[in-house]
Formats: sequence, structure tokens, C-alpha cells
Amino acid sequence: MMKKITVIGAGNVGATCANVIANKDLAREVVLVDIKEGTAEGKALDIWQTSSILNFNTRVTGATNDYLKTKGSGIVVITSGLPRKPGMSRDDLIKTNALIVKEVTEKVIKYSPEAIIIIVSNPLDVMTYCAYKAALKDEHKVFGMAGILDTGRYKAFIAEALKISPKDIHSMLLGGHGDTMVPLPRYTSVGGIPVTELLNKEEIDKIVDRTRKGGGELVNLMGTSAWYAPGAAAAQMVEAIVDDQQRIFPVCAKLNGEYGVKDVFLGVPVKLGANGIEEIIELKLTKEEKKAVEDSAASVKSMMDVLDGMNIFE
Ligand code: NAI
Ligand code: 2OP
Repeated sequence: MMKKITVIGAGNVGATCANVIANKDLAREVVLVDIKEGTAEGKALDIWQTSSILNFNTRVTGATNDYLKTKGSGIVVITSGLPRKPGMSRDDLIKTNALIVKEVTEKVIKYSPEAIIIIVSNPLDVMTYCAYKAALKDEHKVFGMAGILDTGRYKAFIAEALKISPKDIHSMLLGGHGDTMVPLPRYTSVGGIPVTELLNKEEIDKIVDRTRKGGGELVNLMGTSAWYAPGAAAAQMVEAIVDDQQRIFPVCAKLNGEYGVKDVFLGVPVKLGANGIEEIIELKLTKEEKKAVEDSAASVKSMMDVLDGMNIFE
């Protein structure tokens, strides 16, 4: 159990993430922070009042823009920023959310210089780069959540298609959190059986396509983006770090030549433990898979260039 974990942004994703962290008793205290007066305090109080009903000890507190309350956090999850609205791409969000993520990261680091930082704000890969630049920390301690969510969707669709438990599905996915993400059917198994033996190419292609558009499907249904799966996915990363689990997850990490990509933040399999990213795992890829990863990296790089062009780190 960690002493303190902070979640910045008490909106849909942030509050859900704090709720899951508390339910799993991962910390003595979870601090929720938001700029909207009273929102973080209110949601924290609401979650805390479930403690005796749901049987957890984690004290959940809230603060309006008061970073002193976050002092000494071991992990900080950043969800602050605007979510996508219908018709809006993740990339449209870049300018607004970069300023928010930069400001928030600098405040977080001031009070918790040792914290591991997990970014959730979109566009995810670029916001992770933004936080990395603002935090001035070791790259193994600043990374982004997307792959657990995207594989979560992919596994849910496979479970539906095969009418089997999602618990038995293992899968991997590479690339950015967007239309260029690269789900890997060759690295997907169901109870140890390759999924390629259970579903035909057409069925798999359909699932891969739906996964790529999984975020948009929910935006179209709800008028805003998803939160239950994103909040739970970020909390799963927190759990792996708190309990030093050395679990293998797709995580948005800074690449230094792995997969032929350098200085780009991209979703790749990593080993997650107490030190954050303990190792980046390189998979053997086919020519087509390699090309898809390169395309995804190029797409993320172009957005990183947009951030660089904003000159906010002068
Ligand atoms: P939301 O609008 O419900 O919550 C965002 C919260 O951030 C609001 O309460 C807002 O007041 C707060 N905020 C804004 N500026 C702030 C600042 N400077 N300091 C502190 N708090 C601030 O949005 P939601 O649905 O929770 O999404 C949050 C972010 O996560 C969005 O950027 C969204 O696109 C992204 N997202 C990323 C996913 C991923 O897989 N990485 C999945 C789902 C959402
Ligand atoms: C999602 O994939 C919008 O990134 C968000 O749900």
C-alpha cells in the first residue's frame, strides 16, 4: 500500500480512477484535484462515503487547485483536460490540453518530485511527451495510459464474438492511441490458443477496425468520451506499480531506438513495477506490422512537432 496517490482532474475519468484505486485499497490516501470549485472535494467525499459499504480503508480527499495537499505523492495520474466531443478528433485537443498538462505537471513535481506520473489526457501520446518535458524526469517515470484501454476493448469484442470469458484472453497492441493503433492478432490468444485459429481473417479484421474506432463509438453514443474503462485501466497501472507486480502491459513510453523508433512516445509492451517502466519489450514483427508501427510513429511525431511549434517550453 502506498502512502499517497494523487489524481489530477476530478471529471469522469479522474473520479472513476480514484474510485477504483480506493476500492482496491492501493493507498492510505487518494487526493483528487480539480480547478472547478468544490468538484474534487464533492466527488472525493462521495467516494469516501462508500468505504464502509464497499469495505475499503483508503481515505479519499479532494482539493480545488491546492497542490500542497498532494505533497509526497508516490504516483500522480493526470486526467485534467477537455474530453473529445462528437466530430472532434483527439488531435483537435492538442493546443488546449498541452497548456493544462504542462501547468499541472509542473505543480505536481514541485510538491512530489519523486512521483511516477501517468498521463491520461488526450491526445495521449503527445500529452505524455508534454508531461515528460514539463517534469524533467527520468523517462521510465513518465508514461501514458492507452494500451490497456484499447486492448480492453479489443478483448471485450473477442469475448463477445467467441462467447467466452474475457479473462482468458491475452493480447498486445502497439502504436499511438488513435486511428493508427496497431492491434496484433498474431499476439492474441484465448486460453493459450492463438485467436487466428478461432476466428477467420474477416472476423478478426472487423474486431480490429472496431477497436481502432472504439473511442469514437462511445463518443457518438454518449456525446462525450468514455470513463469506466479508461479510469479502471489507469488504476490497473497504478496497482502494478504499488504492488511491484512486473506486469506486462501496452504503455505509451519514450522509445530510444526500439522498434526502429527514436525520441517518439508510442504504445509498446513494457514491464511495469515499482520503478515505473522496468523494461521495454521488443516483439518480432512482420513487414506489415512494422510498417503499421512506423506509420503510427510518424503520425505521433507530427503531433509532437505541433507541440514543439507552440514553444511553451522556452
Ligand atoms: P472531464 O471533462 O469529465 O474531466 C476533466 C476535468 O479536468 C474537469 O473536471 C476539469 O475541470 C478538469 N480540469 C481542466 N483543467 C484543469 C486544470 N488546469 N487543473 C485541474 N483540473 C483541470 O473529462 P474526462 O472524460 O474525465 O477526460 C479527461 C481527459 O482524458 C480528456 O483529455 C480525455 O480526452 C482523456 N481520455 C483519455 C483516454 C486514454 O485512453 N488515454 C480515455 C478517455 C479519456
Ligand atoms: C477513448 O479512447 C477518447 O481516448 C478516449 O475513449
